[in-house]
Amino acid sequence: MEEQIAKIKENSIKEMSQCNDEKELNELKVKYLGKKGELTKVLRGMGALNSEERPVIGALVNKIRDELEALIENKAQEFKKQELSKRLQTENIDVTEPSKKIHLGSLHPITKIINEVEEIFLGMGYQIADGPEVEKAIYNFDKLNTPPDHPARDLQDTFYITDDILLRSQTSPVQARVMETQKPPIKVICPGAVYRSDSVDSTHSPVFHQVEGLVVDKNISMTDLKGTLEMFAKKCLGENTKIRFRPHHFPFTEPSAEADVSCFVCGGKGCKVCKGEGWIELLGCGMVHPNVLKNCNIDPDEYSGFAFGFGVERIAMAKFGIDDMRLLFENDIRFLKQF
Ligand code: DAH
Repeated sequence: MEEQIAKIKENSIKEMSQCNDEKELNELKVKYLGKKGELTKVLRGMGALNSEERPVIGALVNKIRDELEALIENKAQEFKKQELSKRLQTENIDVTEPSKKIHLGSLHPITKIINEVEEIFLGMGYQIADGPEVEKAIYNFDKLNTPPDHPARDLQDTFYITDDILLRSQTSPVQARVMETQKPPIKVICPGAVYRSDSVDSTHSPVFHQVEGLVVDKNISMTDLKGTLEMFAKKCLGENTKIRFRPHHFPFTEPSAEADVSCFVCGGKGCKVCKGEGWIELLGCGMVHPNVLKNCNIDPDEYSGFAFGFGVERIAMAKFGIDDMRLLFENDIRFLKQF
């Protein structure tokens, strides 16, 4: 039996020297040291030995196993080293080479204005609401007191996907979605992209951005609306900004108004930005029409509300002194870099 063990040792060492890689080495390990391996077989056969021989052979097998394990481990380390030096030779990384310059981008002026507006309204306790840009006509129009025969529903006014589904022409449909799902008190702003089938020129684009505002609670009046807009205008456009209301019509508010702000460039004297007027048209607003409240399951006898909506591009253009809306959408880095 001792001879058999010596033979196993000899063979295994010979085969080990012929191993070319770790995989072959592993196979060898299984062949000799595995559960069904050569050495294990010897241990199994020990039943036939007498009680004197058994411990001697047992110790011998264990010794050989330890030796083989150590040899295999050594060999494995050798393969690892070889592999590493091969990689070090072929994968040549020059850590001293100057890295490629990373060009940091900046926020788009529209995003900047939206962020700023959000900050201001969050500070006044508003929440930010979101709604789909591909919208149902019923939300974009019907629920907002704009019946099917209203001229705003003309095919020329927005992009229709089907008769009932369109690209929203305003952020006002988010109002209806919020009122349907939340109980008053409601205080939200809804920023987002809107679409109209306008031809592109220096003041028009088929896609632009609006921010909608909506407050519904008990005893909300026009003074709340005016105070809120005045506060917003001062924070966004400067402490000395004044605000004025002009009567207007929107189907979803009654009464409705357009709000102008005193020109924050010339202070009201008249300049290029305000076209000599001293005032800049800022937004549409009004008291939420009782029909709109009713359409959204809010009792107009118990609650009232105000709403407003403005174009983000207009504010960005006035604030940053941009004279052509197209610049905001062309994404010319030389232009965008300035903000
Ligand atoms: N949705 C209107 C527009 O696109 C703007 C507007 C006017 C929104 C009055 C309002 C509002 O919420 O009360 O022209």
